Amino acid sequence: RERGWTHWHHLFAPRQLLQLVRFQEVIRSRARNDEERLVGALALGRMLNWNSRLCMWNRHLAKTEQTFANLALNPLSDFGVRSWPALKSTVVRKIPGHGGRLSEASIADARSPGPAFDLCITDPPYDDAVHYDELSSFFSVWHCDFLPDPIPGQPLESGDFATGLQEAFQNLRARMRSGGRIILMFAQNASSSWTDLACAVEAAGLFVRAVWPIDLEPRPGLKRGRFGTLAVVVVLSTDEGPGAPDDPRAMAHAAGLNDDDDPDRRTANLRACAGACALRRSALRGGDPSTHFRSILDELAV
Ligand SMILES: C[S@@+](CC[C@H](N)C(=O)[O-])C[C@H]1O[C@@H](n2cnc3c(N)ncnc32)[C@H](O)[C@@H]1O
Repeated sequence: RERGWTHWHHLFAPRQLLQLVRFQEVIRSRARNDEERLVGALALGRMLNWNSRLCMWNRHLAKTEQTFANLALNPLSDFGVRSWPALKSTVVRKIPGHGGRLSEASIADARSPGPAFDLCITDPPYDDAVHYDELSSFFSVWHCDFLPDPIPGQPLESGDFATGLQEAFQNLRARMRSGGRIILMFAQNASSSWTDLACAVEAAGLFVRAVWPIDLEPRPGLKRGRFGTLAVVVVLSTDEGPGAPDDPRAMAHAAGLNDDDDPDRRTANLRACAGACALRRSALRGGDPSTHFRSILDELAV
């Protein structure tokens, strides 16, 4: 699948490398302060996204697509290289909200200590479905001269997924005030990842209070036809309390997912609800969510 591409520079054609290196030189020589270097780095990021050998050539519209048209670095045999005028329109942009609101955010490893909270809304990594570390390296090798390392030390996704998720949940549990909630989004097809999630929830002494399936539609464009990826919103708390229904048909009905005209989509929706219910059952009754998932699918005969 690597097509012989073994080094970062293989992700760029010679003209692209020249354009990018020239642009870096312009930032270095022209930016007068950190703010201007930051704006330059943002423009460089846009340039990287629209000008690599991972930019698919769209034959129908005779244009190049962006590197991150999908969430993976997939080598292509057929790609487009932009001229500077064609690149300018993607790079030179008015930053939305410029001159308007100012908001502040801090970046921290979810496994490290932090302030107490009542509500945590989080979207943890999806195991090996998306390789965020690899994806961010695509930019960071070009940005390192202009941006400080946001979290010095070991990479965020060091160690294995199950242990990291468990450590993060244990840390969140310790910081959550009484009556608090953690709301997390999780999207996965591999049953082992659902097992990891259920184990991490249990090990942290948390309870699944509700599971809502979302994002069940087929994706447009590149991902067309890949439907049924199970994405859910899970509500966790430190007390058991009454939980969400663990019957997939009731869940599909409550979410209006039975009404879809397309029978394939109805089945995909029901399968996704089955996955969400498997997580709920494993939290309520113990056991591996993938076993619950298989038995629910048998019960449903889908
Ligand atoms: C599913 S993505 C979140 C995407 C985000 N909701 C968005 O729409 O852009 C998961 C994110 O968790 C980050 N991450 C991975 N390990 C982490 C850790 N230990 N602490 C904090 N964040 C982490 C990844 O870098 C990635 O950006």
